[in-house]
Order: sequence, then C-alpha cells, then structure tokens
Amino acid sequence: MLNFDYNTPTRVYFGKGTEGLTGALVKEQGCKKVLVHFGEGSVKRSGLLDKVYASLDEAGVSYVSLGGVVPNPRLSKVNEGIELCKKEGVDFILAVGGGSAIDSAKAISYGVACGGDVWDFFEGKREVTSALPVGTILTIAAAGSEMSNSAVVTNEDGWFKRGCSTELGRPKFSILNPELTYTLPPYQTASGVVDILMHTMERYFILDDTLELTDEIAEGLMRVVMKNCLIALKDAEDYNARAEIMWAGSLSHNGLTSCGNGNGDWSSHQMEHELGGLYDVAHGAGLSAIWGTWARYVYKEKPARFAQFAKNVMGVKCTGDDSATAIAGIEAMEDYFRSIKMPVSIGDMDIQATDAEIAEMAEKCSRGGTRTIGGFKALGRDDMAAIYTGAK
Ligand code: NZQ
Ligand code: ZN
Repeated sequence: MLNFDYNTPTRVYFGKGTEGLTGALVKEQGCKKVLVHFGEGSVKRSGLLDKVYASLDEAGVSYVSLGGVVPNPRLSKVNEGIELCKKEGVDFILAVGGGSAIDSAKAISYGVACGGDVWDFFEGKREVTSALPVGTILTIAAAGSEMSNSAVVTNEDGWFKRGCSTELGRPKFSILNPELTYTLPPYQTASGVVDILMHTMERYFILDDTLELTDEIAEGLMRVVMKNCLIALKDAEDYNARAEIMWAGSLSHNGLTSCGNGNGDWSSHQMEHELGGLYDVAHGAGLSAIWGTWARYVYKEKPARFAQFAKNVMGVKCTGDDSATAIAGIEAMEDYFRSIKMPVSIGDMDIQATDAEIAEMAEKCSRGGTRTIGGFKALGRDDMAAIYTGAK
C-alpha cells in the first residue's frame, strides 16, 4: 500500500428535513451576504428554493441569487457570478443543486477571492491561494462535489472542459436530504450512479498493491450502489435506496476509496471531459460510453485486478484464467449499464463521432500530445484516438 493524505473537512448534515438547517448553518459561518447559486429550475419547481429563502430569512441572513447554471457549467456564468459577488459584497456562496451548481459556485469562490482570470486555475497556469467559503444543498447523487476538492468548468471559447483540484475547494458544509432526489428523471438517476461507480473504479484500477480495507469498502460501495439504483429506478421515492445512493456518492469522491491506492487511473474521466466539452453529454453517460472500451484496452496490464473486480463486484464465477474472468467482468458491467439504460458506446448517445472530431478530442485530451493520462496504463494521443474510435 502507498502512503496517503486523507482530508475531509466538510461537515455533512444527512437526512430528512436537513435543508431546514440552512439559515442557521450559514449564519454560523459569520458571513454578511450570501450568493444562492442554482441551475435551470428544478429547485424552483420542487419548492426547495423557497424553503431555502425562508430559512435564510428566518436566520436574518441577507442574500442575492444567481440561477441558470447548466449541466457542464459554463465559464461565462462563473464570470457573471464573480462580478455579482464583487458588486454585492458577497462573502459566502450557497450552491443548491448538483455538481454543476456546486462546481460553478466553487469557481466563483476562487475568482472572487484570488482575482485575475479564473480560467487560469483550470488551465493550470496559477494555483488557487484563497477561496470564499462554500456550502451546498445537494439535489442529485452523482458528482461528489459536495465533499470533493474539485470543480469542473467548460469554457465556451473552444469548448474546453477542464477540472481544478485544490483543498480550498472542499465545501464547509453539505446538506444531504435523500428526499430532494425523488424528483430526478430516471436518466439523471442512472447517470449519477454511473458517475459514483466510476469515481470508485478510477481509484480501484491501479497497478500498485492496495490496502485490503480500501478494496473492501470500494467493492461494497459499488455493489450497494448498483443494487439500490435498480430499486430507485422502480420506485423513485424509496427513501432507503435514495439514501444509500446519496451517501455512496459522497464517499466515492471524498478520498475514502483512495486511501492506500495512490492517485488512481482517471483515464475515463479525462476522456469523458472531451466528450462533455464537444457534445455536451451528461457526465455519467459519457463515462459509461467509454469505460468498456477503455477497460478492454488496458486490462492486460494486470488481469488479476480486473478478475478481482469481476468476482467481488460483478459476482462473476471464475471462468478460467484471470484474463477470461476479467473480460467476463467487463461484459457484466456493460450489461449492468445497459440495464439502467446507460450508453455503452458514443453511438448509443445518438452521436456519430467523425474522424476529425476524434482527432480533436485526442488532441485536446493529450494537450496537443504533451501529456499522457492513466495510472493503470499510460495513454498518449494515439491510444486516446484508438479508444474513442473503439467506443464509436
Ligand atoms: O439545472 P436543474 O434544473 O437543477 O436540472 C438538473 C440538470 O438538468 C437536474 N437535476 C438536479 N437535481 C434534480 C434535477 N432534476 C430534478 N430533480 C432534482 N432533484 O439534473 C441535471 C444534471 O445536474 P448536474 O448538476 O449537471 O449533475 P451532476 O451532479 O451529475 O453534475 C455534473 C457536473 O459535475 C462534474 C461533471 O463533469 C459535470 O460537469 N463533475 C464534478 C466533479 C467534482 N466537482 O468533484 C467530479 C465529477 O467527476 C464530475 O466531473
Ligand atoms: Zn465523475
């Protein structure tokens, strides 16, 4: 096992009615003015936003609002938020929604606190040195941004989707009420579950020896999420299933399943970012579209690891050597994706990727051929193009 640094400073308030704590929690932060930041309207339709405003009013906290964050959140909205915060003297940001609203809030918090061009942080030109405090009220179990150190933003100028990771990005508190996810369309529920699985798999597929405890946590998390997704897709208001998925979403991306496992692989995520940037697909769908092709491309680096996944997560009976078991496990996961109506190819998302688009994505993902991605197998520009082509 490898040494590790585990930092989860986000205070989590989990369960029914916890959104009622919002005003008191924000007040505790000692801030003067809050930006309430949200998406395209689900929080209005569900009545959550009104409850949040009422809670802030009750606590005597003043606030301004900025909605309209779209999935694959845009840099232009981040810049709009930065200007609003400066004008209004905002010193705390409350994101109400999913990964997109939360990531947009995090990016605004860096831009306000550090000044300059916020895109610098996403291009790796500057380090984030300070951030406004951020709190979240989560409405979709998926990205894990409610406890993670990351934010992912899309720059419309060239359609670059880029991430920025910093310990300053971890929210101060996150309110997780599984009931708030009842209104999710099945596609978003399933897409979120793929993301949760992928955050665990990206950390699981590594070449180094792993910590047995971390493996058991990761394998258990994946089994529980897969089982409860099927329940939630049948009954959207099954509280226990929604709760299992929601908590798994946070634990899958707060670092717990990295302990002893180093930095993980992350190729599928890096390659999905280009799909999201170019075609604006739901993040989880983009991941399931690429994963099987990636897995077949790399498993020979350590078939035993994929065989362990096949047996312990997918319930595959040993079918011979590790390679045969590994392939059976990959196929079982693809079958699972199909069973929850998630794509297992780019074509399944009704996108016919052209050779020119594949070359563009490989070029962007490899930063013009200057970097490789992947801890399980290092992938260069040609490997990326081969995987995109295989996933067509
Ligand atoms: O915009 P609204 O109207 O709120 O609708 C959203 C959106 O259309 C809807 N939705 C959310 N909660 C709902 C709901 N609809 C009905 N009822 C509810 N309770 O769902 C759609 C997706 O929302 P979004 O916030 O985009 O979803 P998600 O949480 O999957 O976030 C995706 C973004 O997070 C990034 C992704 O790349 C993508 O940009 N990620 C962020 C990470 C991080 N910060 O750590 C890590 C991830 O790997 C990921 O890259
Ligand atoms: Zn993800």
